[in-house]
Amino acid sequence: MSGMRPTGRLHLGHLSVLQNWSKLQDRYHCFFMVANWHALTTAYDEPGQTVENTREMVLDWLTVGLDPKQSTIFVQSDVKEHAELHLLFSLITPVSWLERCPTYKDQIQQFREQGKDITTYGFLGYPLLQAADILVYKANMVPVGEDQLPHLELCREVARRFNYIYQKKVFPEPQPYLAEVALVPGIDGRKMSKSYGNHIPIATTPEEIQARVRQMITDPERIHAKDPGHPDVCNIYAFHRMFNQPEVEEIDRVCRRGEIGCVPCKKKLAQILIEFLSPYWERRRELEKDPDYVWDILNDGGKKARHKARQTMEEVRAAMGLEIPCKIGSL
Ligand code: TRP
Ligand code: SF4
Repeated sequence: MSGMRPTGRLHLGHLSVLQNWSKLQDRYHCFFMVANWHALTTAYDEPGQTVENTREMVLDWLTVGLDPKQSTIFVQSDVKEHAELHLLFSLITPVSWLERCPTYKDQIQQFREQGKDITTYGFLGYPLLQAADILVYKANMVPVGEDQLPHLELCREVARRFNYIYQKKVFPEPQPYLAEVALVPGIDGRKMSKSYGNHIPIATTPEEIQARVRQMITDPERIHAKDPGHPDVCNIYAFHRMFNQPEVEEIDRVCRRGEIGCVPCKKKLAQILIEFLSPYWERRRELEKDPDYVWDILNDGGKKARHKARQTMEEVRAAMGLEIPCKIGSL
């Protein structure tokens, strides 16, 4: 089970994460979730974006290879059981467990600097909602990035506490699945991130690729095309290493000898990226032909997810003594 907040179109930095998700589908039954409630923990005042961002993100998921026939692809808010489980977990989770999550105070500070207050009840509960997302499916394995490890730790603590208090082994202790993720630099050399504005979307156009690559910083010491270059400090070279394996050695050699200028080197990279991404664009165009396709997938996924979540909630309610006999027929 894993999820992403709907942030709109994904970028090259997300690609290896999605490829890892795609690989897992062959071996496991996977749940992939659009974390739209989580998005609202910080963007609570931007409700208009969520639907379009969901569509764009799920199109990218499908483009890259998530398969709705194998996996359950759904939207968090379509499965209200997550909210119920979050509430029930909140009854047994000490506030201090949430306050000590390492990103909690940092994030509040970061948002405060942008003039936004996120010291809400809901934001404090972010990791607990995430625990409910995972545990409502009794997931054993959660493919995530390292930044999510503290959240997963909390998830296991909550599972343990629940099982202990109610003396029933309802929940497993989900383990992180840390696949290798390629660290893709942005066009400014920092980590690729939409919030830095240094990203290259997966769904884009040849013109945009060319423009983004032109903006990229090369070896700053190289002034004339014939100066010897230093590929090791050049961002363009870092991209050649990732996307242009067959030619990297040659580029390294001719760059160091001053036999290739940065302009043609960039043109080559843009061409490589365009060739690399074209099949995704093709596929996305196909998927976009039917405007309902994404919504059909998500409706269907929501049904499957609810089915599993309801089963878990029956056990949870029973364990917590919430099964009040209600004989509607006798009223
Ligand atoms: N917090 C995760 C992130 O920011 C998103 C998320 C929400 C998630 N619920 C989840 C990830 C459940 C894995 C499992 O990336
Ligand atoms: Fe970078 Fe290519 Fe210029 Fe060398 S020639 S500095 S690798 S852009």
